[in-house]
Amino acid sequence: MTQPSQLAWWQRAVFYQIYPRSFADGNGDGIGDLPGAIAKLDYLADLGIDAIWLSPHYPSPQFDCGYDIADYTGVNPEYGTMDDFRLFLEGAHRRGIRVILDLVLNHTSHQHPWFRESCAGRSAAKRDWYIWRDGRDGGPPNDWLSTFGGSAWEYDPSTGQYYYHYFFRQQPDLNWRNPAVKQAMFDAVRFWLDMGVDGFRLDAIGTIYEDPAMPDHGTGLTLVDLQRKAMEAQTDEDKAAAGKRWLAVFGAQLDQPELHDLMRALRSVVDEYDDRILVGETDDLAYCGTGSDELHMVFNFSLMRVDRLTPVHVRSNQAERLAALPPGGWPCNTLGNHDSPRIHNRFGDGLHDDALARLSLALVLCLRGTPFLYNGEEIGMTDLLLEDPADLRDLLGVWIYQTARDELGLPPEMAMYLAVTNSRDRNRTPMHWSSGPNGGFCPAAVKPWLPVHPNHAAGINVADQQDHPGSLLNTYRAFLRFRRSAPALIAGDYAPLQVHDRDLLVFLRRTATQRCLVVLNYSAHPGRLQADPALPPSGRLLFGTHREAGTGLALPDLEIGPFECLIVEV
Ligand code: GLC
Repeated sequence: MTQPSQLAWWQRAVFYQIYPRSFADGNGDGIGDLPGAIAKLDYLADLGIDAIWLSPHYPSPQFDCGYDIADYTGVNPEYGTMDDFRLFLEGAHRRGIRVILDLVLNHTSHQHPWFRESCAGRSAAKRDWYIWRDGRDGGPPNDWLSTFGGSAWEYDPSTGQYYYHYFFRQQPDLNWRNPAVKQAMFDAVRFWLDMGVDGFRLDAIGTIYEDPAMPDHGTGLTLVDLQRKAMEAQTDEDKAAAGKRWLAVFGAQLDQPELHDLMRALRSVVDEYDDRILVGETDDLAYCGTGSDELHMVFNFSLMRVDRLTPVHVRSNQAERLAALPPGGWPCNTLGNHDSPRIHNRFGDGLHDDALARLSLALVLCLRGTPFLYNGEEIGMTDLLLEDPADLRDLLGVWIYQTARDELGLPPEMAMYLAVTNSRDRNRTPMHWSSGPNGGFCPAAVKPWLPVHPNHAAGINVADQQDHPGSLLNTYRAFLRFRRSAPALIAGDYAPLQVHDRDLLVFLRRTATQRCLVVLNYSAHPGRLQADPALPPSGRLLFGTHREAGTGLALPDLEIGPFECLIVEV
């Protein structure tokens, strides 16, 4: 059986995603930045995380909050300078914290010099760096849609052709079938690896290639139709049908076979260095290749993309994922990020949100694989539903608002509700450092780039929770420390017990030197461990939400309190 000492750093690590615009504002202009983040490195070290995933920090006109990059080897001046970046990296490394960057391969910003050169004329040197086609019958080349609304094609009047964009029109897709594109991007990858960054999270990899025949999807459906059907889906069959419909529309734009060659090529670049890593924004385990020739990890999105976390769902997710993992592959679990509702909202029930947040933490830290946390979850930040359309920053929200109001004729309040519940500003608001004005993110007189959630004044902030032993923040700290001391949680295998229980999630994690029983009660009622030949007779409590660590426990028939979490060495 594997021991932690046999694992690589990224298999032992807990990652923490920093969304730089909202994390910490060092210069008081209402926008998070690198000096702000540097000043919080001690906070992160004390929290007990081992690695940072930094969302895009590159120069960008911010049409997609930095996921529209205008220079792959620079730093967004709003966030600081290259020297600030170096200080951030060195400061993290000095504290034993690794740093991976976000790498957006599929597209650049429309303001990237590569795209400007590509627009210069039909025979421009970089014309073929992007995907240009002639129109058809006075309209776009085919009926493909952008996943952010409208046609996937934008007309360029100066050259009389259309360019392809899977995301916003300000994010033209690169033509990865052109070797010069690959060369230029790999140079950028080497630039950061040479500087010492520890790897990359690869953005939206499934979108990099399209079917070269560019067939129409021919369904006649629009994005609004797809979203409406997905929202109306109640039963599992409805949801499966919505998924199929989505694929019928976008299939030719996604997950083309050449991607595996590209991932292998990128892996060989990264492997020229010592121990750098690639994490794919996909839940398709096929991108782990043989387990050592493509990506080091991909996210387990199917764990989090549900309305409620239940023992039944977690068990079936684990059974499926762990069986599909290639030999040598490594799992990776997360429950939230900058694209999805905050954990507190998504997995809360409105009555026991705090208790459920603790179970979510226990889940992600105790399942087999590397956990990824999202900034702010450690203090229980919640979604903020904006009310004023002028506050919308996510263009997706702007598009939904305008479409719902102008094309569907919905009343503005309803259009706004649809916009804020189906876009991403709600989970990207500034971090709450204190109960003071603007949550201590920026000075009182400054308007932050997105409004600060008013609940920062009601205890949901770092300063208030810091010294409060029972706070969510201190639970995160204690749990992260505890995980480092529990080899079974880091390296152990996973064996589910009590597999028909609808309320209790029970599993063992085992290495040669330690066995831990993990018990999570997802119900507001007490549950009971069932006598079972696989259940050890007794154990010692290592960590729990409801009882003193160190207590000896007789396990068969043990009553588990509502929302209790127990980790018992057996
Ligand atoms: C990824 C990012 C998302 C972005 C999109 C386009 O899904 O996580 O924030 O909008 O790619 O780059």
